[in-house]
Amino acid sequence: MSEQTLSNLLKEDRRFEPPADLAEHANLTAEAYERADADYEAFWAEQAGRLSWETPFERVLDWDDAPFAKWFVGGRINAAYNCVDRHVEAGHGDRVALHFVGEPVDDTRDLTYAQLKDEVSQAANALTALGVETGDRVAIYMPMIPEAVVTMLACARIGAPHTVVFGGFSSDALATRVVDCEAKVIVTADGGYRRGAPSALKPAVDAAREKASSNGHDVSKVLVVQRTGQDLEAWDDDVDVWWHDAVGSASTEHACEFFDAEHPLFVMYTSGTTGKPKGILHTTGGYLTGSAYTHWAVFDLKPETDVYWCTADIGWITGHSYITYGPMANGATQVLYEGTPDSPERGRWWDIIEKYGVTLFYTAPTAIRSFMKQGREIPDERDLSSLRLLGSVGEPINPEAYVWYRHVIGADKTPVVDTWWQTETGSIMISPLPGVTHGKPGSAMIPIPGISAEVVDDDGNPVPDGSGGLLVLTKPWPSMLRTIYKDDERYVDTYWSRFRQQGYYFAGDGAKKDTDGDLWVLGRVDDVMNVSGHRLSTTEIESALVSHPKVAEAAVVGAQDEDTGQAVCAFVILRDEAGDGGKDIVEDLRNHVRTQIGPIAKPRQVMIVAELPKTRSGKIMRRLLKDVAENREVGDVTTLADSSVMDLISKGSKASSDE
Ligand code: WT7
Repeated sequence: MSEQTLSNLLKEDRRFEPPADLAEHANLTAEAYERADADYEAFWAEQAGRLSWETPFERVLDWDDAPFAKWFVGGRINAAYNCVDRHVEAGHGDRVALHFVGEPVDDTRDLTYAQLKDEVSQAANALTALGVETGDRVAIYMPMIPEAVVTMLACARIGAPHTVVFGGFSSDALATRVVDCEAKVIVTADGGYRRGAPSALKPAVDAAREKASSNGHDVSKVLVVQRTGQDLEAWDDDVDVWWHDAVGSASTEHACEFFDAEHPLFVMYTSGTTGKPKGILHTTGGYLTGSAYTHWAVFDLKPETDVYWCTADIGWITGHSYITYGPMANGATQVLYEGTPDSPERGRWWDIIEKYGVTLFYTAPTAIRSFMKQGREIPDERDLSSLRLLGSVGEPINPEAYVWYRHVIGADKTPVVDTWWQTETGSIMISPLPGVTHGKPGSAMIPIPGISAEVVDDDGNPVPDGSGGLLVLTKPWPSMLRTIYKDDERYVDTYWSRFRQQGYYFAGDGAKKDTDGDLWVLGRVDDVMNVSGHRLSTTEIESALVSHPKVAEAAVVGAQDEDTGQAVCAFVILRDEAGDGGKDIVEDLRNHVRTQIGPIAKPRQVMIVAELPKTRSGKIMRRLLKDVAENREVGDVTTLADSSVMDLISKGSKASSDE
């Protein structure tokens, strides 16, 4: 974000008070801040106490081996029991857990908590019958259908950590993750519905399984939901099993075992600054405490009356914490939608809100901006009066989008909670409390009760109000990642070495404190991009480009983009023998990245260049490339080994944009 936008942002003086009614009945009130400050362990023990523990914990936090944390020591718990069984036991079996909405219009299905309990038990029995034991990893590569949530909970139920891979990722990306966590079983579907048509998944699983085998890891079974009924390219009787056979025939009785609070719950891969994705490991008791507490406090969930909808995909952390675990641990009723916002037409989301009377709605700024572009007529045609709270996540929300969201979608009566957190933090860290905090467009405000954050300078000293620095979390929290799967060293290096002396967690984001002391998260300070709220690594895309036979070298930057927040811009040097690459080279390279990683990583722009700007030690100066990609005057080039390089690149880029 440029200095100019920054100062504009900080001049923002619109304020929105919490609605009186919400404030009066809010789940969490202002006193929680003081209580949590006075004794944060006691505060977290109280939040953990909202869950059902088979064996109570003896100690809240063991931080003796920092930064390796143990929360709720000695406690035994089952996440699936907490998300399903206990609601049935409490007499809420008839409450709808999921209003499933398929993309084809009228393809809907409601699942109550009692039905969910049966299905999760069946799936747990089926996974066990397929040879999955406690501790084994299960990969999930599925569309947004109830079976995806059921599978996650079934894995949790038997203590088999899942790793959900976003259905939009390529077979290569799936294979890398399957190999890294040595998944024994993959659960998938023939396909899902996407923009009005069936979109296949199973062939990508076949390809990934083959790639995994050639990398020395054999997947033993693939469990396949029949969703679209489309033709399958291949079926291996030794490996492939239909869900309706294996799960359909399994018993609905399943006595669950309880696991240590620190038993691994899942691994979620996310991009870091190298080409290799990081397997973020979350464990059971702390993660469930964090996701359930924040969902209850930040969305002010009233499970008897609210209808909640989070539009994220379960392939991202938001879908884990705010579809599967947080809301279900709280016994919420929620919408689960399979498709895209504009299928079959652009009012689809608003139709769903109207039909189900959605009260709490959680989405990403990139979606809000695209609706702004389409105009308010579309939502105005629907009755959205059921909404009482709106949430935003994934990237900074610009004040214009915030105000439009509140005004057009929320009829100026709903608070907007801008929630800052990460795959690593597991749950929301910084956000307004809707019944307490006034809204300030563009600011995530202050850490929620129980969380301690700061903006610091390079030496780890807090910056004064009105200045910027690096965002850190100063105390451990229950839903923190425990490590990077099989890579403790990278865990320590990435998050805990920059401010080792102070013992702060370094989030990788830059932030400002405004003159009121409220926080404005500005985005990543490392080589990580945020495209439509999804995290992508520059290095990962660079290695995808370099794997193309015509490419010698590549540098990727995230450039500001009106719609997607940031967009992928690539600068590529071709190999000598490739000549000028041919007339389709740019399209070829864009598509190459798409097949290597997935559609979200496809570069907006590829520029073929003769040289890349490098320091004398050979490090690519992405900052300068970003200037070019954002059509700015190129900044300081004095540390370049060859300062004429940037002239060439800038001229080339002007020529290509004039074409
Ligand atoms: C990165 C984390 C949080 C779940 C979805 C993304 C950015 C996230 C906000 C926000 C400003 C935000 C940060 C963060 N980010 N939410 N409300 N305001 N920036 O999870 O893929 O782990 O990415 O997303 O840069 O570090 P993720």
